[in-house]
This record gives sequence, C-alpha cells and structure tokens, in this order.
Amino acid sequence: MSTDFIKLTINNKEFEVPKGARLIDVCRDKGFDIPSFCYYADLALQASCRMCLVRIEKMPKLQTSCTIICTDGMVVTTQSEEIEKAQRGMTEFLLANHPLDCPVCDRGGECELQEMTFDWGGLEERFTEKKNYYPEKYLSPMVANDPQRCILCKRCTRVCDEWMGEEAIEAGGRGANTVIGTYMGWLDCSQCGNCIEVCPTGTLLDATYRHQARPWELAQTISTCTYCSDGCQMSLGARGGELMRIVARDRYVNGLNGEFLCVKGRFGHPFVNHEERIRTPLIRYKKGGKLIPATWDEAIRHVAQRLDAIADEHGRNAIGVVGTPRLTNEALYSLRKFSTDLVGTENYTTSDAFSLKPFFENLSAPLATHRDIRYAKTILLIGGEPEELQPLTGKQIRQAVRNGGAKLIIINSVPIRLLEQAAQFIHIRPGTEDAAILAFADKANDSLFAKKTGVDSSEIEAARELIANTAGDVVVMFGGELSAEAQAVAAQLGSALAGEGRRILLHPLPLFNNSFGAHDMGMMDGALNVTEMLDAAGSTIRAMYAAGSFLPSQLESREDPLGKLDFLVVQELFQTETTEFADVILPAASFAEIDGTYTNNDGFVQRVRQSIPPVYQARADWLITNELARELGMDFGFEMSASAVFREIGETIPMYHGLRYPVLKDESHPIQAKYKLAEPRDLSDELETIRMRVEAMADNGDKLTRTPKVGHELFKIGTLTDKVPQFHLLAAGNPRPQSVAISPLYQITVDARAGEKEAAASK
Ligand code: SF4
Ligand code: SF4
Ligand code: SF4
Ligand code: FES
Repeated sequence: MSTDFIKLTINNKEFEVPKGARLIDVCRDKGFDIPSFCYYADLALQASCRMCLVRIEKMPKLQTSCTIICTDGMVVTTQSEEIEKAQRGMTEFLLANHPLDCPVCDRGGECELQEMTFDWGGLEERFTEKKNYYPEKYLSPMVANDPQRCILCKRCTRVCDEWMGEEAIEAGGRGANTVIGTYMGWLDCSQCGNCIEVCPTGTLLDATYRHQARPWELAQTISTCTYCSDGCQMSLGARGGELMRIVARDRYVNGLNGEFLCVKGRFGHPFVNHEERIRTPLIRYKKGGKLIPATWDEAIRHVAQRLDAIADEHGRNAIGVVGTPRLTNEALYSLRKFSTDLVGTENYTTSDAFSLKPFFENLSAPLATHRDIRYAKTILLIGGEPEELQPLTGKQIRQAVRNGGAKLIIINSVPIRLLEQAAQFIHIRPGTEDAAILAFADKANDSLFAKKTGVDSSEIEAARELIANTAGDVVVMFGGELSAEAQAVAAQLGSALAGEGRRILLHPLPLFNNSFGAHDMGMMDGALNVTEMLDAAGSTIRAMYAAGSFLPSQLESREDPLGKLDFLVVQELFQTETTEFADVILPAASFAEIDGTYTNNDGFVQRVRQSIPPVYQARADWLITNELARELGMDFGFEMSASAVFREIGETIPMYHGLRYPVLKDESHPIQAKYKLAEPRDLSDELETIRMRVEAMADNGDKLTRTPKVGHELFKIGTLTDKVPQFHLLAAGNPRPQSVAISPLYQITVDARAGEKEAAASK
C-alpha cells in the first residue's frame, strides 16, 4: 500500500509527512516538544486541556495541535511568547483547584502535572479562592483515589472504555465540581490499573504500593511479564533487594504494550519476596520421611546419585524430564539438552495445557503480531477468551473494532465479553469447536457442522463471505479448545483463506508466558506428552526431574501418579501439590531474579532481566540444570552466564539463528523468531480423524447463555497470585468494605476459596 505525502513547515523547517497525519504527532516526531494532558495516541480525542496550542499561519487564533490534521503547505509555529503565555495561563487554571503539596502526593516525582508546572507554569498562584476538597479513598483493593488532584483530562475513562470495554469509571458532577467517580463508589471491574498508569496526576494511585517508596528510590529494570503468553513489557521497580512495584514499560520507553498491563502483570508480583519462598534445598532421605534442609552441594550430589542409579537399574528412558512453560528459553533449552545429550531419555516434555507442535508443523501464514491485530480488517476468533486469558490480545481486538472499524467473527460456546464488539457471533454447543474448523477446511462439512453445533449453516457461509470480501489483513486466532488435529488444519487455513488483496495472519492463544519457547526449544519433541508421562509414572517412568510443578488439573484427574515414583526432584519457588511428593526440592529463582528470554504469542523473543539478587538461596533454573549436568559428568560450558546459554540457542535453534542478547536490546523494535512456513500438505488423515470425532458428538445439548463474570479467570488463585492478599479479595467477589477511607485489606477477612466455591455452585 503506497502512502501519499504532503509538505508542511514547522518552525521554519520544511518536512514531508504522510497525508492524514495528526499535527501533534508530527511535531513530536520531528523533535518539537508539545505539552499535552488530554491527548493520548490511539484513544478518542478529548481536546479539553488546551495545552497543545500552536500558531498556524492564516488561522485566526491559536489552535490545539491534537485536533488538527496536517494539510499541504501548512506553516506551523510551536514556540513563541504568545504560545508560552497561553500555556502558562492554562497550567495556572489547572492548578486553580489542585493542591500544591507535591511532597505528600504519591505521584510526586513522576507526575506530568508537576513536571509541566515546572516547565510551563507561572510557579506563582494568583487564585485566592478556597479550593475544592474531597477526601482520599479506595475505589477497590487495587485502586486508590485522591479526587482533588484530578485535572479532568479523561484519559482514565477513555482507556477504561476503549481498552478494557468496561466503562467502570466516569466523570460525574458539574462545572468546577466535576469529579471522576465510579458506580456506587466501588470498582467492580477487571482491576487492570491502566487508569492509574495513564493518569497524569496523583488522582488514581496504586493502592498496593502507595506510601511505600518514592519513585526516585526505585531502580528500574525493563523485563517481560511472567504470566500470560502476550509477553507485556514492564518496568520492575526495586529497592534494597525488594520488588516494590511494576508499571508498564511505556512510562519510560515505548514497548509492545504501551502503558497497558492487566491485573496480574501489574499487581501479581508480591510472590517474589514472599516469606513462604522455599529457602534452601531440601532432601527427603526416605519415602514418607521429613524434608531436611541441605546445602546446594549435598542436594545436587544426592540427585545425581539417585538419577544415575535409577538409569543403571531401569534404563535411561525410565527418567522423565518435565519443565513448565513458565521457564525461560535458557532453562527449557538446558532441560532439553540435559534430557537428550546427557541422560539420553526420550521422555521429556512440559506441563503446558496444549502443545503448539501441530500448529507450527503446519504453519501456512505469518504470525500476527499485536500491532497486526490492532490494524486488522477482519478477525476470526475460534474458542478462547482473550479478555481473561491473554488480556493484551483482548485489548487489541477491542481497539481494532472500536478504533479501527475491524469486523470480528467469534465462534465460541460461551458468550464471552468480547461479543459486544462482534460483527458476527456463531454460538456453538460446548466442545464442538473442531466442527467449525472442519467447515472452514471444506464446505462439504457444513451440514455436519450445523447438526453438531446447533447453528444454521448459513452462518458459517456468512463468515466465509465476510473473510472473502475483506481487503487487508485477516487474523485467525484460536484457543486451547481445538484438538491437535484441528490445530494442524487451522494452521493451514492461511493458504485456504488468502486471496487477492487479502493477507491471512495466524495467532494461537497459548496460556503461558513461554508456551512458544517450550515449543521452540524442542521440549515438546519428546516421546510422551505430559498426561502420558504421568500415566507412565511408577511403571516405565521410575524417576522424574521436574523444573516447576504440574498443573493441579493434571494431578487431580489421576490417582497419585507422583507417589508411585521411585524418585522425584522438583525445582520450585513454593510448596505445591507437586513438591508434596518430592524426594528433593531445589529452590528456584523467580523471573525478577534472573536473566533470560521468553517468546510471546507474536513470536517475539524478549528479554527477562535481573532486577534483584536471588531471594534466600534460590538459583536460576537453567543454572541448577547446568550444575546437575556437571555432577553427572557433562559440562555444558555455560559457566555462570545466561547469555552463554542464549548464544548456544542462537547457534543451534534454526528460528533463533543469529540472535544474541545485544540484538534483543531494544524492545521498541522486537525481534520475531524466524518460523518456517510449511508447504501445504495433504491433511486428509487429520480431517478424517476430526470428522470421526465430530460425528461421534451428540446432536443436541443446551448452549451456554451466561456471559462469564469479569475476572473469572484473571482473579483465580494460583500458586503465585495466592501470595497477593488483594487477589483473595477479588477472588471472593471483591466485596465493598464498610469504609472506603481505609484499605479493604484491613476490613475484610475472606475465605480465600469463597468466590471459587460460589462459582462452582452456580455452574
Ligand atoms: S482498573 Fe481498569 S477496568 Fe478498572 S476502572 Fe481502571 S481502567 Fe477501568
Ligand atoms: S483521574 Fe487522572 S486520568 Fe482521570 S481525568 Fe483525572 S487526572 Fe485525568
Ligand atoms: S496481558 Fe499477559 S503479559 Fe500482559 S500484563 Fe497481563 S498477564 Fe502479563
Ligand atoms: S492535548 Fe490538545 S487539548 Fe489537550
């Protein structure tokens, strides 16, 4: 697509800029500073603060540059006495009702209003009238509010509406008494905290961190979120070895997610310095005995001896190696190398909910990045619930529709919240997602689709037509509901759906921060998958080396699989259902304590950077594997350097070829792994398997009609969020405390599982 350019002059310099560009963006891009409060790129225009004033030749008065689209021949001045006087006047007005007590405000030191006042303000207050006063309060366990500091820029209301689709926060009152508020004074929302992040003043504040540190005391480290597969960039603020808070990276540098983070990424970090972290290596010398603290040397020696003895007695394949998809690429690569090059077992895998192997083996189109999603023309979402499981993807879909006019087709058994944005909702029966893939692969399956899903076949025809009529990008996304065979067929839809002027991009929705890396590092290439591995525990698998825990559902659905093992060694941060059976527990370091990389669902390989020293005696997972290998007689040659592991990854994993840490330095320009496109191949075996499975499905059955509650996945208590008291309040239904003046943490004692029990009872 070619871009037309126009010419304009800014401060006597001529520039060529794309037609349709916004003046404020152009001025900033060309290095001319324009102050602003209400303007926020990619949000609806507000145009209320009047800070962004410029003089445009032939126009009678000063103009707000955020509302002006550049035209050919425009002559603009951004700095003059007249402009500065107007801007100083506006700042003075903004301060008319604002307290002048920055030293006691939690935003002091990183407040845009404070900064602007120093840059543009008169620094002298001429208003003598009494200021409005509103007491400080809590809006939720995560959001605190100091209403008198509001300058009514409405960034918060716009991100809440446009990014989150929530409209949980709104301006109320009139004139000089207008304040930002919530329905019934309490936020029953997804608690993302994005309103806090974008607020330019100390009005909306992080209730979990407030009054604990000043921003200038915090050492900032740019890293990658450890929760979902979206891989948001974030800034870890630490003081004296303690991780104090997390904000989006964009507050400092532009990143993948701008200023967006979800509730887990922003508030889910207190596990890092939690007192329940496993503090030392622990050895259980005999089954049923106690775990005894040991030194690292003793523990590594003990594990090596036991694994050696079991391999001697039962053969190498009797050793199973399992990693979690939460580990870094460096840790997963080391585990795979340990399994194949040292132990020589075929039995290695990860505890991921599903494998991406069938998808990548059939990849027929490029991966869609989050940016591609934002600017897509049509989005086909089969299964999944991104607003809860991959919230950045959810936000991009919402903005693609709301701010970009994209058409969204949702095929789901659940009326998920994104439905509000959908052009078409194909409401299928639970568990029939594979039938949709069958219909997309071949029209001949339309009647089977209709019979099993309870949807008229004209609906799938309409979806196909919408895609066929798209000029521009079509993004095909799918969740974990698809079977492995259906994933393979979905990956080949790239060739089936592409056409003249239409590009197909694919975007799977795995659940974990490094599900992609687990695939790329070869950890999904072993002979057994995780369920087969657990089923073989105690029979062909005699010992297991687990870096991380199994998912509770994987253990609950079978009878005591880990108890049947002769030997289990687990690397973990906390005691879990898996460590209960461990003969040796090795304390692993969290993402904040290590260097490494994760690969997100864009295929971007992104840095994880050490923010604090390891807590207690924790060690990086890759380092533990390295030391165990050395004890077993093989030196991987990585010494103490994660970058040496990554160098080897760059040399041996084809899609990471040539990558080194310095190449990944600038996440504003993230690097995508080079996934090879597969030649279209005959998928008749897979299609036959899917067809047989679909034919065996019932022809009747009720549909789910209830839209799930906000946070039903996000607020779920897992091993990590369990260590955040505020998450327990959210999981229990976010009850409004008696007084909003005091933190709900001090007022409400909840049964941590109450919310879950209630949800289970209502199913
Ligand atoms: S926390 Fe998120 S969802 Fe809640 S009001 Fe703020 S922006 Fe809206
Ligand atoms: S609360 Fe903050 S973001 Fe919202 S309108 Fe007030 S100053 Fe702007
Ligand atoms: S959307 Fe995913 S990656 Fe981003 S902050 Fe939330 S959990 Fe982390
Ligand atoms: S930034 Fe232009 S009016 Fe506020």
